[in-house]
Amino acid sequence: MKDIPQKDDVDSSPIATPQKSIPRHIAIILDGNGRWAQKRGLPRSEGHIRGSSAIEKIIEEAAQIGVERLTLYCFSSENWKRPKPELDALMNLLKTYMIEQRATMMKNNIRLRVIGRRNRIPIDVLTEMDKTISLTSANSGLTLSLAINYGSRPEIADAVRDIVVELLDPENRAKKMSLANVSNVSDLIDENYISSKLYDAEAPDPDLLIRTGGEQRLSNFLLWQLSYAELWFTDILCPDFTPEHFREAIRWYQSRERRYGGLNKN
Ligand code: IPE
Ligand code: IPE
Ligand code: MG
Repeated sequence: MKDIPQKDDVDSSPIATPQKSIPRHIAIILDGNGRWAQKRGLPRSEGHIRGSSAIEKIIEEAAQIGVERLTLYCFSSENWKRPKPELDALMNLLKTYMIEQRATMMKNNIRLRVIGRRNRIPIDVLTEMDKTISLTSANSGLTLSLAINYGSRPEIADAVRDIVVELLDPENRAKKMSLANVSNVSDLIDENYISSKLYDAEAPDPDLLIRTGGEQRLSNFLLWQLSYAELWFTDILCPDFTPEHFREAIRWYQSRERRYGGLNKN
């Protein structure tokens, strides 16, 4: 668990220097909204609203410091287990977010993407989501990828299904085998093929995973893609998570040595 520096001992050294690389892709599990609200005697839905406001500042910060991609876990495929009023509040918040953030995304040159299954998401939410995705599609700054009705196992299952469907088509199969110069169809299956069928196939793997809210687990988030990510957990609840905490996580990331199974450089 990280100790978050207090105001007086905040490290204000710059995070973007030629020696210190900014993570290209940061993924965040936004947890702790409900507990934040419950501590204050407020409804859980209020926690979600405050969590969303906190995250708006993180998105702006990420865009400003030059992060290429930010993937935020907003709603998991398991979150449908929540009570109906909380689900309604969350879907409503998503819809409002898609409408209200359009201007800010355009101003900050942010491109929106959404990963997850579209089934079960109310049609009015999908409509607003699609509008924002298409409006921002030519933006060239930060790519903001929101994981909504997302689960990593369903994503991998969807990828496998796509591959099977593709390879069951005789013409497709023959073309792929000739391109890869293999005589056995099973030789086509490799990591790259599976990666290419994930929801956000163009994204580099996340370099840094942040989870707010005190839990140290992945909760079915990006299991394949996080294989070599640096993991930063904090007790700070999502509505209290500030750009300064975000920068602290990046500084910590910059102090890590990534070996990918090799040996250190010294
Ligand atoms: C995260 O906050 C947001 C969602 C999962 C939608 P929680 O709602 O899980 O908050 P806690 O973990 O109960 O505090
Ligand atoms: C993970 O939080 C999902 C999101 C933040 C969207 P949860 O609150 O659903 O995770 P668990 O249930 O504590 O593992
Ligand atoms: Mg939670």
